[in-house]
Amino acid sequence: MSSHQITFAYWVPNVSGGLVVSKVKQRTDWSYEYNVRLAQAAEKSGFEYALTQIRFTAGYGADNQHESVSFSHGILAKTEKLKVIAAILPGPWKPALAAKQLATIDHLTNGRIAINVVSGWFRGEFDAIGETWPEHDERYARSEEFIRSLKGVWTQDNFTFDGKYYQFKDYTLRPKPVQKPHIEIFQGGSSRAARDMASRVSDWYFTNGNTPTEIKKQIDDIREKAKANHHHVKIGVNAFIIARDTEEEAKAVLQDIIDHADKDAVNAFHGATREAGAASNEGEGNWAKSTFEDLVQYNDGFRTNLIGTPQQIAERILELKNVGVDLILSGFLHFIEEVEYFGEKVLPLVRQLEEEQKQILQDKSA
Ligand SMILES: Cc1cc2nc3c(=O)[nH]c(=O)nc-3n(C[C@H](O)[C@H](O)[C@H](O)COP(=O)(O)O)c2cc1C
Repeated sequence: MSSHQITFAYWVPNVSGGLVVSKVKQRTDWSYEYNVRLAQAAEKSGFEYALTQIRFTAGYGADNQHESVSFSHGILAKTEKLKVIAAILPGPWKPALAAKQLATIDHLTNGRIAINVVSGWFRGEFDAIGETWPEHDERYARSEEFIRSLKGVWTQDNFTFDGKYYQFKDYTLRPKPVQKPHIEIFQGGSSRAARDMASRVSDWYFTNGNTPTEIKKQIDDIREKAKANHHHVKIGVNAFIIARDTEEEAKAVLQDIIDHADKDAVNAFHGATREAGAASNEGEGNWAKSTFEDLVQYNDGFRTNLIGTPQQIAERILELKNVGVDLILSGFLHFIEEVEYFGEKVLPLVRQLEEEQKQILQDKSA
């Protein structure tokens, strides 16, 4: 049982269609104006992080998507406390430019930028923009070099690195980022290669939604390896949250989202994930076991089952925390109003349960 408070993040809807592959009516909007209002509501409601997504072309339904780093900076400019995690894709991004660009944003925002290094799952996107498509584990080998390069450039003078993908020679970046030791580095992906990379170099491991039992297996695996590497990794889990005054209402919203699924888009996405996952030898990658219904939320967010009343959701969040989860990455149907509802109704219950648990621990050790 852990005594620190669990952290909350939300997905920035910088893509049209929100966080579900469904034609259900949504009051979420991908515009800058909506996202600024959302970010301001989220920081007031107790969210510490927001995560922007990167897609050069969408594999499922969405017509429009804003670029992640510039969009993150736009949100940071209009907020005060929120940290925004920008997704970065090695391949299109090179570490020298990423390191320089992010160090500047870190200065402009007083140390509130972070990054999510994603290794790519959609081959069509890479083909469309003329990027090569290394095999699954090679993509992670490249991402690991990418992260080692960023860390080196951000923390050392006269940085030299002779990798398979990236090289630096006696390079000194000025100014270094504001954050010390460096800008926080998240990563996305659940396969063997993703977990091994996390256990070596990432500050945070983001994984798709799942049950506490399945999440625990991943966490135990990563933490054991990380320990052997003298490295500590924090864990973030995706969840599509549907909090309503009654369980029936919440379940009805889920059913409505699934009933309106964009079937062609979900099936196309399924095909693309098979291609991405097939390349991970052990078959444990994200989406390896996803059903059609799971894929209506593109990071398996229904599986985490934060769907019900505030009390039910708060209790399930505590269960996740107790298997070692540090952060809940949340998606919502109608973002602004649901982020506010979450801050008002769910978060205080989570804090209360955490407090009660802490008390029990203290009493036991007294
Ligand atoms: C929380 C989270 C966020 C992600 N964000 C993006 C993204 O913005 N763009 C992208 O191309 N892939 C994104 N991914 C996909 C991963 O980087 C990775 O390619 C995918 O999960 C498949 O990995 P695996 O087969 O190694 O498990 C994300 C994954 C997770 C878990």
